[in-house]
Amino acid sequence: MANMTLFTDQDPESVYPSQDLIWGKFEQCFLALWGLVTYAPVFRDYYYQGLAQFYTDNVMYMEVRALLPEIYELDGSTHDTAWTLKTYQDITRQFTAEYPEFFGVRVIFTIHRGVNASKMARAVEEAMKLQRDFPDIMAGFDLVGREDSGRPLWYFRDALSLPAERGVTLPYFFHAGETDLEGTEVDQNLLDALLLNTSRIGHGFALLRHPVAKDLSRKRGVAVEVCPISNQVMKLVKDLRNHPAATLMSENHPLVISSDDPGMFGSSGLSYDFYEAFVGFGGMRSNLGSLKELAINSIRYSSLNPKQQEKALALWQRRWDNFVSENAF
Ligand SMILES: *[C@@H]1O[C@H](CO)[C@@H](O)[C@H](O)[C@H]1NC(C)=O
Ligand SMILES: *[C@@H]1O[C@H](CO)[C@@H](O)[C@H](O)[C@H]1NC(C)=O
Ligand SMILES: *[C@@H]1O[C@H](CO)[C@@H](O)[C@H](O)[C@H]1NC(C)=O
Repeated sequence: MANMTLFTDQDPESVYPSQDLIWGKFEQCFLALWGLVTYAPVFRDYYYQGLAQFYTDNVMYMEVRALLPEIYELDGSTHDTAWTLKTYQDITRQFTAEYPEFFGVRVIFTIHRGVNASKMARAVEEAMKLQRDFPDIMAGFDLVGREDSGRPLWYFRDALSLPAERGVTLPYFFHAGETDLEGTEVDQNLLDALLLNTSRIGHGFALLRHPVAKDLSRKRGVAVEVCPISNQVMKLVKDLRNHPAATLMSENHPLVISSDDPGMFGSSGLSYDFYEAFVGFGGMRSNLGSLKELAINSIRYSSLNPKQQEKALALWQRRWDNFVSENAF
């Protein structure tokens, strides 16, 4: 467990004194896990178990970022990206058949931002193909990995403009502004994400420092995916009352709550992040309405089409009404 998660029994402040140190460990954890979860039978169980954990936490719909790695069998044969996406689709269908209260999953195909421009162009080509072949499960495309040490979106502008040039739809869900460095190339990612027509902004921690970008995202209804526990563990903010999302929330900027990598943080599901947002961002003024708004936002700013959103909202409303009456507030 010590090799596979960031969790520690000791004082995390002394175990992880800097962002560089914790990011180093974070990336090592992914490497340590790689060969385990990319073995076909484990890959299937691991994803099914992930769905079960979120379902137990009362999550009814998810949009998951996935690298869609090559998956192996013990005879040495391997499966390609399309197989991996199809497996996500098959297991999601199996899960929703077993638990009809679960609405489903859509996948955001990702690639590590450490790659070069030609590799990125190939990944975007692949993403366009997957978007065409798996329109139900495929939500779009994003880049993952530490923004501070990776290449900025601007470096990849040619590859990322391919869909628009060809008149092909490939929605983007860019990580942008997961940084406290101001004025660096990477700090420009927020503006570039919006210029590239991102549908949401992953993290957007630096958004307050970019008032023009913030106006744009608000006008276009581009929600910020706020990950409270992740930002705290990865040392962007210590006290969540100082999290920029507290300001975004008071300004009614579109935002949703996400748990990023709960398994890595020794957490699970989404409730802990909702709790932190509730207590940290809203303070004494948080109330049942804050939770309701945040839950509705998760559907409103999802990649579901309007008809699916309506259906998901009706299902959610029924469960919300039950929750309120059972708890007799
Ligand atoms: C597991 O952690 C130990 C101690 O930090 C380290 O020496 C070792 O290389 C790690 N193993 C893997 C597979 O990451
Ligand atoms: C880009 O990276 C790939 C390996 O991922 C390498 O084969 C290729 O030569 C690189 N291209 C350039 C232009 O550096
Ligand atoms: C972004 O949207 C604008 C307006 O619809 C369009 O002109 C432009 O080509 C798009 N750019 C990209 C990279 O998708």
